[in-house]
Amino acid sequence: MTDLFIRNARPYGEDAVDLLVRDGVVTEMGAGLRAPDGVEVLDAGGHVLLPGFVDLHTHLREPGGEESEDITSGSAAAARGGFTAVFAMANTDPVADTAVVVEHVRRRGEEVGLVDVHPVGAVTVGLEGVKMAELGTMARSRAQVRMFSDDGHCVQDPVIMRRALEYASALGVVIAQHAEDHRLTAGAQAHEGVVASRLGLAGWPATAEETIVARDCALAREAGAALHVCHVSSARTIDVLRAAKAQGVRVSAEVTPHHLLLTDAALSSYDPVNKVNPPLRTGEDTKAMRAALAEGVIDVVATDHAPHAAQYKDTEWAAARPGMLGLETALSVVVHTMVEPSLLDWRGVARVLSERPAEIGGLPDHGRPIAVGEPATFALVDPDGVWTVRGAALASRASNTPYEGMRLPATVAATVLRGRITARSGRIAPFGAGRDGEVAEVGS
Ligand code: DOR
Repeated sequence: MTDLFIRNARPYGEDAVDLLVRDGVVTEMGAGLRAPDGVEVLDAGGHVLLPGFVDLHTHLREPGGEESEDITSGSAAAARGGFTAVFAMANTDPVADTAVVVEHVRRRGEEVGLVDVHPVGAVTVGLEGVKMAELGTMARSRAQVRMFSDDGHCVQDPVIMRRALEYASALGVVIAQHAEDHRLTAGAQAHEGVVASRLGLAGWPATAEETIVARDCALAREAGAALHVCHVSSARTIDVLRAAKAQGVRVSAEVTPHHLLLTDAALSSYDPVNKVNPPLRTGEDTKAMRAALAEGVIDVVATDHAPHAAQYKDTEWAAARPGMLGLETALSVVVHTMVEPSLLDWRGVARVLSERPAEIGGLPDHGRPIAVGEPATFALVDPDGVWTVRGAALASRASNTPYEGMRLPATVAATVLRGRITARSGRIAPFGAGRDGEVAEVGS
């Protein structure tokens, strides 16, 4: 079943090779191999072969938010985007703060089988920030939770954050913080700056992020714990991260595709598709994000894929929910913002979308080198592909993409999970005609 012959692929954009996969593992790799009889062949057409992408920050909305996304539609979106593993955030309904919920998410992911779904456990009961959730029970459950986060909310209380980091250190897990001092952002609707003033929207000051990151780095140092900073959006946060890393604090950080590309200039349209938390900031900030990602101060790109059904988004700005789709457009935005201006090469893309996220999330079978003896878990990228984003044609149940109508570079030609093709030319496995999960081809 999981035997596969991949012809004419360029690992990391380098020389073309053929690969033979047996039982999900690469057994031969080299130029001019012969496909054994009866083995499924994937003609890679000289495209770039990368380790499958790993998203540390995805909202799959199941359980409780299925009008916006579920594990089936979210897994399809992930596979189309080149992802082979995703971390599903805990702000579901019920919240993923018990073993029962995280085990449900993990099992549903396995049933769908398109991508490895790793549930993130909540740090506090109900994401309320008051009482710590049972991290140990979730870590030891069948779901084997490796990352905990109250994302959507910040763990505000320093006493609880300190205790959570101490537990994390003992359990060998990571605390991922949504860094936002809620007292400084009360009522906020947009980045605090010129655009928000002009539009009359209450501001979300960058210092609300920076101060929490500084505090948490100090707490993580004391606890000897692994801290991960979600969706960095402000240039000044990067200075805090750089200093903490230089001092040996175990801190990692992510940036979203939208904080690499979009700025608060997009808000002039008042279209709530651009409402997101943390908010889109200035051109100076996007420039700093790109430089920090190239330098490694920001470790990874994570999508913060946040599907919202139309009734939550097609409303006035203040009432609209924050968040935007990200799984199916992430690669293209990274190519546009990082590869085209030569800030990253394909090895760098593998680092920020696969290797480092797999390390941070503790996934030993993802983000592996493309080599004999390693799992055949890949994203095959057509670097010359160009496509026009249409929200309605995405696999996600929701269509809240901020890139509607944009022409973006690079397409995912195929995604392979342990030797099984999960997506191919925008179609989702199994590839029979007329099945429910089938979606339109990626195309211009
Ligand atoms: O914009 C956001 N949407 N930011 C978050 O932190 C949460 C997310 C969501 O769940 O919709």
